[in-house]
Amino acid sequence: MLNFQGEHILSVNQLNRDSIEAIFAVAKKMEPYAKKQKRTKVLEGAVLANLFFEPSTRTRVSFGTAFNLLGGLVRETTGMQNSALTKGESLYDTARVISSYADVVAMRHPDANSVAEFATGSTVPVINGGDGPNEHPTQALLDLLTIEKELSRFDRKIDGMHIALVGDLKYGRTVHSLSKLLCHYKDVKFTMVSPDGLQMPDYVLDAVTNSGHQIELVNKMEGNLAADIVYQTRIQEERFPSQEEANKYRGGFKISQSIYDAHCNKNSVLMHPLPRDSRGDANELDNDLNNNDNLAIFRQVQNGVIARMALFALTLGVENLVDKYETEVPWYSAKKNS
Ligand code: NCD
Repeated sequence: MLNFQGEHILSVNQLNRDSIEAIFAVAKKMEPYAKKQKRTKVLEGAVLANLFFEPSTRTRVSFGTAFNLLGGLVRETTGMQNSALTKGESLYDTARVISSYADVVAMRHPDANSVAEFATGSTVPVINGGDGPNEHPTQALLDLLTIEKELSRFDRKIDGMHIALVGDLKYGRTVHSLSKLLCHYKDVKFTMVSPDGLQMPDYVLDAVTNSGHQIELVNKMEGNLAADIVYQTRIQEERFPSQEEANKYRGGFKISQSIYDAHCNKNSVLMHPLPRDSRGDANELDNDLNNNDNLAIFRQVQNGVIARMALFALTLGVENLVDKYETEVPWYSAKKNS
């Protein structure tokens, strides 16, 4: 099991089932703090450098929110064009500089393995918030935590479940990382639903097969969504060689309430890492699903905050001190009873 304190979290390859369960146990302890039922100052004085060199809304804000909820301060930089990387500075030098200001770094970058390269120059733990098409370990953890919680509503477990991964499985880093994490569970059935040309890369398929799971590769949704979890994705347009190439796939796999009724199980849980592309021609997850109780997309977002709180607590070695630094929440918060 990973000894988290002081470690970088760069890849799901670092995690085994015990590590995953340790993270989830801490994440669950974070729930009252995320719901504003309690407050903690355990990271008062600590600084997170939140470096996002690629577009992001929820990952960036949830890393910052998670750190704030533990009492820490956040320093942020967004966009490549605003950073000295455009002046030719190396990731190593940027890391030497930034880690002299901060206690921990969260980072997203458009190039595969760039966060690992940055980590070689960092004197503090670095957490990968997405490195190009490669990995998104914190999203995979929040997705897996969501799967566990959602299935428990139906007395089901991750072991033995059936998951359908849908859409851009080639460039979607969230499905790469999630598939690899699922290798630590037993008897998972995978249906990989992608258009020809956007199939899951072989190295992920090999990892899944080698862990003894069953995989079916298909190129249409009809008849292939009767799974416990249906995980839809966005066509990752920014990673295609050209916009024309990406346009070929826009709107290929739209899930709406009528598709859900026709092809999913009665209680299939619908997930998506977000953002969903809601432009009419793409519309991969229709707004007419918004009142479907099994649409878990906004619960995934909440689980993202507690999963990231857990990673900060573990890498900074305060996972058992959170309650000791507890204070009250004097203000009205609509979250308290949610
Ligand atoms: C995903 C990402 O950035 O890989 N979003 C996220 O972090 N929640 C998926 C996407 O952008 O489609």
